[in-house]
Amino acid sequence: MKLSFNKSDLLFQFKKTDLIQLKKIDYLEFYVGNAKQSAYFYANAFGFKPVAYAGLETGVSDRTSYVLEQGDIRLVLTSPLTLNNPIAEYLKLHGDGIYDIAMLVDDACSCFETAVAKGAQPLLKPHKFTNKEGYLVKATIAAYNGDLCHSFIERKNYNLFSPEYIPLSNFIETKPTGLIAVDHLVLNVEIGQMNPWAGFYQKILGFQEQQEFTSDDISTKYSALISKVLQNNPGKIKIPINEPAQGLGKSQIQEYLDFHNGPGVQHLALKTTDIISTVRHLRSNGVEFLDTSCKYYDNLLERIGEIDEDIDTLRELQILVDRDSEGYLLQIFTKPLTPRPTFFIEIIQRKGSMGFGKGNFKALFETIELEQAARGNLL
Ligand code: FE2
Repeated sequence: MKLSFNKSDLLFQFKKTDLIQLKKIDYLEFYVGNAKQSAYFYANAFGFKPVAYAGLETGVSDRTSYVLEQGDIRLVLTSPLTLNNPIAEYLKLHGDGIYDIAMLVDDACSCFETAVAKGAQPLLKPHKFTNKEGYLVKATIAAYNGDLCHSFIERKNYNLFSPEYIPLSNFIETKPTGLIAVDHLVLNVEIGQMNPWAGFYQKILGFQEQQEFTSDDISTKYSALISKVLQNNPGKIKIPINEPAQGLGKSQIQEYLDFHNGPGVQHLALKTTDIISTVRHLRSNGVEFLDTSCKYYDNLLERIGEIDEDIDTLRELQILVDRDSEGYLLQIFTKPLTPRPTFFIEIIQRKGSMGFGKGNFKALFETIELEQAARGNLL
């Protein structure tokens, strides 16, 4: 299923350039069954502040959206209001999930033109919205496959999130949990599709391959996967892409694909500068994390060397640690945040390491397998 937009003609003359410079992720738009309740969840559990709203009261007849922010992270939670609505079709097929990974750029028209010239499927031609303070330009292309897209967002002194949104000041009082930025987003794609997807990000959006993991790196007794890490030039946007590989049982990636009904965003990694404080806060808010075997913490210091954090505290909170030549990182993964075993969030703190916790893959995947087995989806 592809979403299509019936909009007017281009408002701009394109400039001749073949460069797409993605500055950072501007927002992540989730399609969800109940945007109001999801906003309450992300506000109360993760500490995001609801800041803007669009819906019937603001002249939008087919959807309701809440915008939430924390640090440099902006989430948009959108639900359909009508039956014949591509958002409703998305939800029927996939359940709640991330539909738009929107990128901030200096010139949205140029990015759109370049991407389409290189073969990207256009979904929304560039539109400019102007108010007294400034302007916003938005244009959207489809990702390589599946129900995922990328908007190019250009902002100049524009004081609203987007037209038809109003500021939201009285929704709920929230306490930030220390989340400061998007670290990376991981895509799950079907067998044989990792390289075509990687090619899309390289050819169309100018990403570069940073790392590749084989099934020898990422396998347990039952389940296996291969993975490639793509990043844009300044390394501000990182997108690892996973593909299932043959094992004795069903790969966790295949379980995702079966329930999501196609490729999509498996997890969103959010950065903190104090993972102990953040995870304590999230746990007290009721966020559920994957369990870590107590054995993991035996000999942890021998495995990874000296670290600043107290091992007993890491054990208590079940935070994982990994080291590479540049430093170390701390990370933890939530259980799926959706009824289907699909989307989850990772919390990560980097202390030099720019990797993804390769040393934790085995422990992590064995934990995921236990959960998969409990769902009856491992063998
Ligand atoms: Fe991750």
